[in-house]
Amino acid sequence: MNKKVLVLSSSPRKGGNSDVLCDQFISGAQEAGHQAEKIFLKDKKINYCTGCGTCFNGGKPCPQKDDMTEILEKMVEADVIVMATPIYFYTMCGQMKTLIDRTCSRYTEITNKEFYFIVTAAVNSKPAMQRTLEEFRGFTSCLSGPKEKGVVYGIGTWDKGEIKGKPAMKEAFQLGISV
Ligand SMILES: Cc1cc2nc3c(=O)[nH]c(=O)nc-3n(C[C@H](O)[C@H](O)[C@H](O)COP(=O)(O)O)c2cc1C
Repeated sequence: MNKKVLVLSSSPRKGGNSDVLCDQFISGAQEAGHQAEKIFLKDKKINYCTGCGTCFNGGKPCPQKDDMTEILEKMVEADVIVMATPIYFYTMCGQMKTLIDRTCSRYTEITNKEFYFIVTAAVNSKPAMQRTLEEFRGFTSCLSGPKEKGVVYGIGTWDKGEIKGKPAMKEAFQLGISV
């Protein structure tokens, strides 16, 4: 089956380590015949959720007019969602958290998706990534029928480009193919 793959790249560093892993994943997915699109969040205008209640009390669309409308539509339409973040102070970066909070008005429609997570960090430790992965799982646990399919650990990478030559490059490509 040809799947729609949506890759959410949240690092503010374009061409940075997690962004490169997103591209690797996409190359694999495309090689396997899937349709893949990356959204680089820093290119988009995504305001904070204000908790105004318009969506969760009034059942009305989010009153904010920004790029989240289009991104949410793509999340609802996708079969596969890849969420990529650099580790900042042992948590996801603010851009990704802002996006997650803004799914509030339509998260009940993000159903039966397959999820992949990509994390990059200076520290060379998979256990140290677990807190952030649990944060992603906090989000997916609010959805209906999510399936977590894989994690790419881009660990031991500080500088932009350091990911090249690390095993995570191949792992991201292979996970993309396995979609
Ligand atoms: C504000 C900030 C906080 C960071 N905090 C951590 C951290 O807590 N642990 C860690 O291992 N690396 C930390 N790093 C390093 C990044 O996770 C690392 O450089 C990663 O490769 C960045 O991925 P990117 O190129 O996709 O942005 C931090 C970097 C920045 C800029």
